[in-house]
Amino acid sequence: MNNFIFQNATKVFFGEGCVKEYLACLTKNAKKILLAYGGGSIKRNGVYDEVTGILKEAGKILVEFPDIMANPTYRKVQEGAKLARENKVDMILGIGGGSVMDCCKAVSLAARYDGDIWEDYWARPGVIDFEPISLGVIVTVAGTGSECNGGAVITNEEKKIKTGRDYPNLNPQFALMDPTYTFSVPQKQMVSGGFDILSHIMETYFSEPNEDNVSDDIMEALMKSVVRNLRAAVQNPEDYTARSNLMWDSTMAENRIIKMGKKCDFQCHNMEHQLGAYTDCNHGCGLAVLHPVYYRHIYREGLSKFLRFAENVWGIARDGKSDEALALAGIDALEGFIKEIGLPATLKELGVTDKKQLKEIADSCGISAGSYKKMTHEEILEIFQECYE
Ligand code: NZQ
Ligand code: ZN
Repeated sequence: MNNFIFQNATKVFFGEGCVKEYLACLTKNAKKILLAYGGGSIKRNGVYDEVTGILKEAGKILVEFPDIMANPTYRKVQEGAKLARENKVDMILGIGGGSVMDCCKAVSLAARYDGDIWEDYWARPGVIDFEPISLGVIVTVAGTGSECNGGAVITNEEKKIKTGRDYPNLNPQFALMDPTYTFSVPQKQMVSGGFDILSHIMETYFSEPNEDNVSDDIMEALMKSVVRNLRAAVQNPEDYTARSNLMWDSTMAENRIIKMGKKCDFQCHNMEHQLGAYTDCNHGCGLAVLHPVYYRHIYREGLSKFLRFAENVWGIARDGKSDEALALAGIDALEGFIKEIGLPATLKELGVTDKKQLKEIADSCGISAGSYKKMTHEEILEIFQECYE
């Protein structure tokens, strides 16, 4: 194992009924709360009524910050920060998925900072030497794992850059996670979030070190759990066991535990984020398109791990197969799963239809230092072209 320091500041309250049981107590020191949410799903599925009912009964003043879009923009962050500052809120409560949670983290920072947080904290890493507004989240969709980390992925539309930074000071203070809140997530978003979980695990698993380490063992169990429970949730969206496993898989993938001692890749994430910056495509769907093609580009450099992946995650027997054939069978199994659960397999299906734009997008992608094979912008373009149709 490589050396590491581990701390996670978020307190998790997990399970059916957790909002009813704990929300009033968790907000007891706040008078004015910025209530942040997305495009309205919480108004349709009853979550908004449940949450506002509890907060109003406790006498809180609520300042609403609605319409946080998927792939939240820097402009939306600035709007939230202005609202938080003008109303002097003493807590932010984000209700939603990764987009709401990420936007809220950036708002909590921007509201207490006079400069330009994009330039000082996202364009390059910065140091947070002041207290951001305290943040709590209520998770409504499994996928990003944003509830238990300080990561926030923001899109700067003018600069055409979508990028994430991870500041431990931005970890939510608490995360309320009721799996029944995810029952109403549409199937397309459920499988997209499910693939995002798988991707977070794979982007960590497929990286040095390859020798015996507990993180890789945990990840194999997590990947099998995601595959099994996503299949069950596709069959029955209200399968509580499946939905609760997926919700915790999502947190486990990004609460930093599995990253301990690992270098981490995240090249596919870098590529997907730039596809998102240019086309506003769906995050998990973009990852599904890229992963099998990217892995066929790098498996030779990470062969021993691709063999483990085929055997331990997908249960493929060697049966006299060469190393090459076994590694490729594992990647084929991943691709088969992507198709089985109805995720897109090409950029065209994803809605990326301007082939001429691919070079500019490829050139804008960050290069990961943790990949088994360091990419060049030329090879990223090749991958995009192979993914196109
Ligand atoms: O906006 P509303 O109406 O609420 O609808 C949302 C949205 O349309 C809907 N939804 C959420 N909960 C629902 C629901 N619909 C019905 N019932 C519910 N219970 O789902 C749609 C997608 O929501 P969003 O928050 O955008 O999805 P996700 O959680 O996948 O977040 C994606 C964002 O997170 C970033 C992505 O890049 C993207 O910007 N990421 C954040 C990470 C982090 N902070 O650690 C890591 C990830 O790799 C990722 O990059
Ligand atoms: Zn992701």
